Amino acid sequence: MAQAVRIDGKAFADGLRARIGVAAAAFLQQTARRPGLAVVLVGDDAASQVYVGAKAKACEEAGIASFEHRLPATTSSAELLTLVERLNRDPEVDGILVQLPLPQGLDEQAVIAAIDPDKDVDGFHVINAGRLAVGQTGFVPCTPLGCLMLLKDHLGDLSGQEAVVIGRSNIVGKPMAQLLTDANATVTIAHSRTKNLPEVVRRADIVVAAVGRPEMVRGDWIKPGATVIDVGINRLPPTDDKPKGRLVGDVAFGEAAEVAGAITPVPGGVGPMTIAVLLRNTLVAAHAHAGLPAPEGL
Ligand code: GUN
Repeated sequence: MAQAVRIDGKAFADGLRARIGVAAAAFLQQTARRPGLAVVLVGDDAASQVYVGAKAKACEEAGIASFEHRLPATTSSAELLTLVERLNRDPEVDGILVQLPLPQGLDEQAVIAAIDPDKDVDGFHVINAGRLAVGQTGFVPCTPLGCLMLLKDHLGDLSGQEAVVIGRSNIVGKPMAQLLTDANATVTIAHSRTKNLPEVVRRADIVVAAVGRPEMVRGDWIKPGATVIDVGINRLPPTDDKPKGRLVGDVAFGEAAEVAGAITPVPGGVGPMTIAVLLRNTLVAAHAHAGLPAPEGL
């Protein structure tokens, strides 16, 4: 069988960011302000520092104001909640993102619950989870929404497709399953207790792997021609030729690419979509706050 098509998430995300830039410029014209995203980072987790820096840079490039709040790991719950409440009231702030994980001792659920649901561009608030569950308009978590965009771009209509989502997290697996269900796919959520996981995955026309286990999904689990979306970003231990350790997904890419019809690479697949969708959600929030209709084509 021919090698799978590579689904180029980087190129799709670049295009989306360019469209967001155009819409953000039009928003500035109409309202005399830029859409604004506040990003809160507590503590000094190395990976989180990289993500937060990348989010700020992407905002600036798209014409979105970025307000960074870096707080020490010793920050108390009360201090963090006070900041979130201030951002809730700030008319320059359309979106609020509190970078997770929080340092030990801070209650993530309490902090997320304090965010105004209409500024919750991560889509983590229970109000937004509930809106997604019952089919109301709200914010959808960025990574699964980015996966859905890639799937629709590649496959068009998803009606009747068998989809298997591996992983049941609140951030990826559960919202992904809901989005696929809303798109008329037939959805199975598989997880660590699923029996005969390879057999379950072999039924799928669409596989979304979001487990955080390097190269767990093997080539012989994939139905020939299936579309494979790999959400995992795992760093392998360092080797002599890769002193920083190689980045791999949750799917054994080389094997899977010999069987699948299409597959996202790691890096360059789902990863770049997450920040692009965050910018999109911020732009949508800004339009809602300004009383403008939602921007089209995003
Ligand atoms: N940590 C890793 N990914 C994310 C994300 O999408 N949002 C937030 N807030 N924290 C994260």
